[in-house]
Amino acid sequence: MTKKNFQRYTVTAALPYANGPVHIGHLAGAYLPADIYARYLRLRGKDVLFVCGSDEHGVPITIRAQKEGITPQQAVDKYHTMMKDSFREFGIAFDIYSRTSNATHHQTASDFFRVLYEQGDFVEQVSEQYYDEKAQQFLADRYIQGTCPVCSFPSAYGDQCENCGSTLSPAELIQPVSMLSGEKPVLKPTKHWYLPLDRYEGWLREWILEGHTEWKTNVYGQCKSWIDQGLRPRAVTRDLDWGVPLPLPDTEGKVLYVWFDAPIGYISATKDYFLGKNASSGKKEPEDEAAWEPYWKSPDTQLVHFVGKDNIVFHCIIFPVMLKAHGDFILPENVPANEFLNLEGNKISTSRNWAVWLHEYLRDFPGQQDVLRYVLTANAPETKDNDFTWKDFQARNNNELVAILGNFVNRAVVLTHKYFGGKTPSRGELTDFDRETLDKLVDFPGRIAASLEDYRFREALAHLMDLARLGNKYLADTEPWKVIKSDEERVATILNIGLQISANLAILAEPFLPSTARKLSEMLQLKTAGWNATGRPDLLPEGQTLRPAELLFEKIEDDAVEAQVRKLSDNKRQNEMVSKVLPPAKPEVVFDDFTKLDIRVATIVAAKPVPKTKKLLELTLDTGLDTRTVVSGIAEHHQPADIIGKQVCLLANLAPRDIKGIRSQGMILMAEDGDGTLSFVNPEKPIVNGGTVS
Ligand code: 2FM
Ligand code: ZN
Repeated sequence: MTKKNFQRYTVTAALPYANGPVHIGHLAGAYLPADIYARYLRLRGKDVLFVCGSDEHGVPITIRAQKEGITPQQAVDKYHTMMKDSFREFGIAFDIYSRTSNATHHQTASDFFRVLYEQGDFVEQVSEQYYDEKAQQFLADRYIQGTCPVCSFPSAYGDQCENCGSTLSPAELIQPVSMLSGEKPVLKPTKHWYLPLDRYEGWLREWILEGHTEWKTNVYGQCKSWIDQGLRPRAVTRDLDWGVPLPLPDTEGKVLYVWFDAPIGYISATKDYFLGKNASSGKKEPEDEAAWEPYWKSPDTQLVHFVGKDNIVFHCIIFPVMLKAHGDFILPENVPANEFLNLEGNKISTSRNWAVWLHEYLRDFPGQQDVLRYVLTANAPETKDNDFTWKDFQARNNNELVAILGNFVNRAVVLTHKYFGGKTPSRGELTDFDRETLDKLVDFPGRIAASLEDYRFREALAHLMDLARLGNKYLADTEPWKVIKSDEERVATILNIGLQISANLAILAEPFLPSTARKLSEMLQLKTAGWNATGRPDLLPEGQTLRPAELLFEKIEDDAVEAQVRKLSDNKRQNEMVSKVLPPAKPEVVFDDFTKLDIRVATIVAAKPVPKTKKLLELTLDTGLDTRTVVSGIAEHHQPADIIGKQVCLLANLAPRDIKGIRSQGMILMAEDGDGTLSFVNPEKPIVNGGTVS
């Protein structure tokens, strides 16, 4: 298939859920390759619109809000700002970073739905779904817990068991419980609107399987497998109170499914970009209102979606079907999805805090955003899952960025200052080796561009580093520091060539390492920009003064990466403790239930082990009301001698029980830590024995 030479590009990066900060997996999966691609196209002078924004709807958001005890809007406000800041700090140069809770998006998504509805593109269907009668709402799969039918884990979710990884449906859970009220949910009929993907199977085969054989094999393969398995209608509405309300009469309590509205968010963001532009330029003419349209409607526009592998089906099948059904829009030309990035051998997990968070990286490695950009691109999971390790991070920085790119440029600039007062020296007669080197230079821009245009970002970066290697080797072989003793003119030529290669690097590195490229351009006082100038050996005019040399990269020491590995294993330990012992939440109780408990402050006046047991102590307590005996299972955590005189809280009206032949009257309240250790729950200051706890 011959490639069309597009002038206009709409580049999208998956809208991340606004339910947590951004980590390296996000960056490597979609945002970094998208940014490299958009920056490259801009350098080529193309008309590029690079859009993204926060995905602020759906159950992931409501769950996060519930966990933090805030409203969904408060949760998305918090994370939207955090994510936007991280992307900016890492140089992800979106033209706009919008959000799906805003008015433009609600309007755009509602209009989109209405068009499909009016065209009769949906199938309406009533089905039985779990409903929480107490909370009076239908339950999203994530809001139902029960016993896993596969591994018997008692806290599996309605869509997945986190213990054995099985994908589940709520109906499969044994003894399902609503996580909203703790009650058993009931099945209740509800109507939803379905996108009949099955009707588009023929078209999808033709469009993807025949028409887009050039897509990456991981993407093409996933699409083929979905299509071959047979597509089924997909519900595009949900019973939920957070999202874009269904724009149909008598549908209160229903919203668009987050996966229906999120990709429309790319269109809304494009509109927002032009609305913002109009506002800032004071323009409000009618033609400006349609300024967004060519980016989504013109066949001259190349639409490219950058996503992670879990998003492939939505961007290759579901969203294209939506666009096709609507009829006004262009389809993606490509969806160069990446696979997953693992971290130190384990899957990145937000809930288990097994991640490198961008805001924490910035705190620990200030000013070193390009190092992370470099490592994540050099090791990008382009064709298969890959592993990020801190050792590799350190090695790539020290052996590649510092030792090759940084060292080469630094030598060229430092020697120019040393021998020629910082002015780019004139080139004299060229040797065969000089000519060979310059001939090689000419090829690099084309090689890098070809890799970028085929979405092979690792390969493109490897070419860039090969150019730095070429420069490094050129200086090592020509040894200007030795030649200077005998032939200054020759050294002028050598350094001129070294500086011209450096200037080429300053432009070619921009998509990958934008802040390094800027530093280098400033150091060289490079006035030329744009990809088309690269390959030339005369980017720097002779006689122009350079700025003082500045190190582009610094060595990363062992202790810095060891601290990161330690932090990860601490997180892991913490999480293992928590996930092992934390029992699921108990069903709700009413206040009256609580008031039945007679909890009193008491003092331990005597303590001794219960013979022939490991765990039990026999305690004598002064309760203020009486002196009584309580048997408590704390022997593994407390020595009798240490606890005499301690005040504790006692459940005083617990029915007496005989334990190992001793009559125990009540129970001491203990708090259990993540690793199972027990601590007394006691008043913050001494309280009269018999004082109540309520
Ligand atoms: O996986 C995710 O994080 C989704 N929020 C991606 C949405 S991409 C698009 F459709 F907006
Ligand atoms: Zn399971």
